[in-house]
Amino acid sequence: MTNIVSVDQFSNEDVMHFIHLAQAFKHGLTVKLNRPAFAMNLFFENSTRTHTSFEMAERRLGMQVIPFDPKTSSVTKGESLLDTLRTIQAIGVDLAVIRHPQDAYYQPLLDAKLPMSLINAGDGSGQHPSQSLLDMLTIYEEFGHFNGLKVAIVGDLQHSRVARSNMTLLTQLGAKVYFSGPKAWFNADFAKYGAYLPIDELVSQVDVMMLLRVQHERLTQTNNETFDATTYHQRYGLTEARAAMLPTQAIIMHPAPVNRGVEIASDLVESPQSRIFQQMTNGMYMRMAMVSHILVQQGLLDAKTLEDAA
Ligand code: CP
Repeated sequence: MTNIVSVDQFSNEDVMHFIHLAQAFKHGLTVKLNRPAFAMNLFFENSTRTHTSFEMAERRLGMQVIPFDPKTSSVTKGESLLDTLRTIQAIGVDLAVIRHPQDAYYQPLLDAKLPMSLINAGDGSGQHPSQSLLDMLTIYEEFGHFNGLKVAIVGDLQHSRVARSNMTLLTQLGAKVYFSGPKAWFNADFAKYGAYLPIDELVSQVDVMMLLRVQHERLTQTNNETFDATTYHQRYGLTEARAAMLPTQAIIMHPAPVNRGVEIASDLVESPQSRIFQQMTNGMYMRMAMVSHILVQQGLLDAKTLEDAA
């Protein structure tokens, strides 16, 4: 694939290919590009992890990273995203990594069939394929398989591109998905992938407790006015008392940024069962795997280098 925009593109073999490639990079694989190659990361929504780890991945693969700041770009003069992409392709950018608040913003860009590659770094409440792949890597590193694992996805389901991406891949890979959090945020789209259960019924039986950030920036004003962090934590959060009921083999995950004391008790973020910072480390290696895969499709990297490693 020359563009990566949704987990719907991935077969189980693709997921395992990316996991093995990311592990090879983690164990020291280095590559050499066939010619200078250029990446641009266009983030129209704030980001720390995804933005910096894509840039780190691109640099570690030998790409040159051209800065882009939406606030000082001609997007502020009304230039469309498609014309922005046409422009950066015309000046020689090989790969655009884009985060944008609009669901499926990428479709018109794909339809234009520009001779450059695109990775979706998160679209609104739609998809977050690189987060999902790094989460699969983190779970695979822990358990060595997905089949039959019980995974609870808990929190702000309605706004979560992470939930939507992960429920698809986890189910496809053979895990059993459950959902929890405010019931009003659970809808028919989620019900196709797993049952809703109160968090107190889930904690003692899961292998993975995957928490989601409450996305205050996407809550409507009416919802936000009624939101109370302490009440949310007590009703839906991973409290210290609930964490004590987790099975010993269970791990705690969260895509971050974390609202400490809201979806998770602050001290649990660094607890022995937490894999939250390991997820961030894995994110850089997984993004190296994704970008290198695309570089091979573009002829900028020899396929054999990656085949031998993964
Ligand atoms: N998990 C994640 O997407 O974090 P950022 O918003 O910091 O990129």
